[in-house]
Amino acid sequence: MAEVADIAFIQELKQRPDLSLKQDAQGIPLIDLSCPDMDALVHDIGHACTKWGFFQIINHGVPSELSHKLAEASHKFFHLTMDEKRKVRRDVGKVLGYYDTEHTKNIRDWKEVFDYTVQQPTLAAASVDENDHQVAHWENQWPQSPPEMREVCEEYAKEMVALGMRLMELIAMSMGLKAQRFEEFFKDHTSSVRLNHYPPCPSPELALGVGHHKDPGVLTILAQDDVGGLEVRQKSDGRWVGVKPTPDAYIVNLGDVLQVWSNGEYESVDHRVIVNPEKERYSIPFFLNPSHYTMVEPLPELIRGHQKGAKYRPYNWGKFALSRKHSNFMKLQADNIQIHWFKN
Ligand code: OGA
Ligand code: NI
Repeated sequence: MAEVADIAFIQELKQRPDLSLKQDAQGIPLIDLSCPDMDALVHDIGHACTKWGFFQIINHGVPSELSHKLAEASHKFFHLTMDEKRKVRRDVGKVLGYYDTEHTKNIRDWKEVFDYTVQQPTLAAASVDENDHQVAHWENQWPQSPPEMREVCEEYAKEMVALGMRLMELIAMSMGLKAQRFEEFFKDHTSSVRLNHYPPCPSPELALGVGHHKDPGVLTILAQDDVGGLEVRQKSDGRWVGVKPTPDAYIVNLGDVLQVWSNGEYESVDHRVIVNPEKERYSIPFFLNPSHYTMVEPLPELIRGHQKGAKYRPYNWGKFALSRKHSNFMKLQADNIQIHWFKN
């Protein structure tokens, strides 16, 4: 990893974490998915979605052994030599695989990642040009080591899709819709899994593991280890608060697509990752995303009776996702470093 003296990592003053104020969130909902009382479960999910946009789930049915196997494979992969990791490196032609140069809002993240998609191949927009209707086929790249990587990753992805779709049923019901309402958007879903590795950082007060952002997709199911570092901007007062790791729980957060589908009722929430001077941290988000050709717009039945009508204009998911990938890919010259970032 580069030194933090590398200016690309340094956050603008107002984005830097105040490590002296670090505080854990109080009251992030913890939802037990094995709860037999369906009405209560749906009610709790709805409450968590409106009040927080973030919640943790337990008794979710994903075997903990599988999560541990994936965590282990991830540790082994990230501890390979840079030469080995770069054999499965992502580049302009190959959008999936390993890279350590992601930028969030044009500042480099203090992390390295391995991305793979669930569907093989994943059908995606070929370009961001609105008139280009060509379809691209995204293929995963698998490292030779560790040998179990592919199998474990694929098995985990299947579990995540099942869990994600189950959450979507509960979310649909919490909006007064039928459980299957969202199914049609996922026929050729573009969901993906990301293995994140945040190495120890010598200057955690200047850099971030991931700069503040909202997830663009439908929802995210995150597994994190016991180090901690994920922070959420609390809806109630706008403060940054830590999400304390809970063993065997997943963190669920709503993405921008759900915010649009719900016509703003269920907002996606700003979050970021702070880094640690001594400890490395691993996390594994699963991003549930619709088919690339989905036109994302507020559901008609949720606009009806709404005085203000639709709060968003339709947009094409595939084009949106691809332009995000492009903008993440390299630091855009136009937004190059400004000295006012360093004013006190
Ligand atoms: C992300 C993200 C959080 C984490 O990758 O979008 O928000 O704890 N990750 O790694
Ligand atoms: Ni995120």
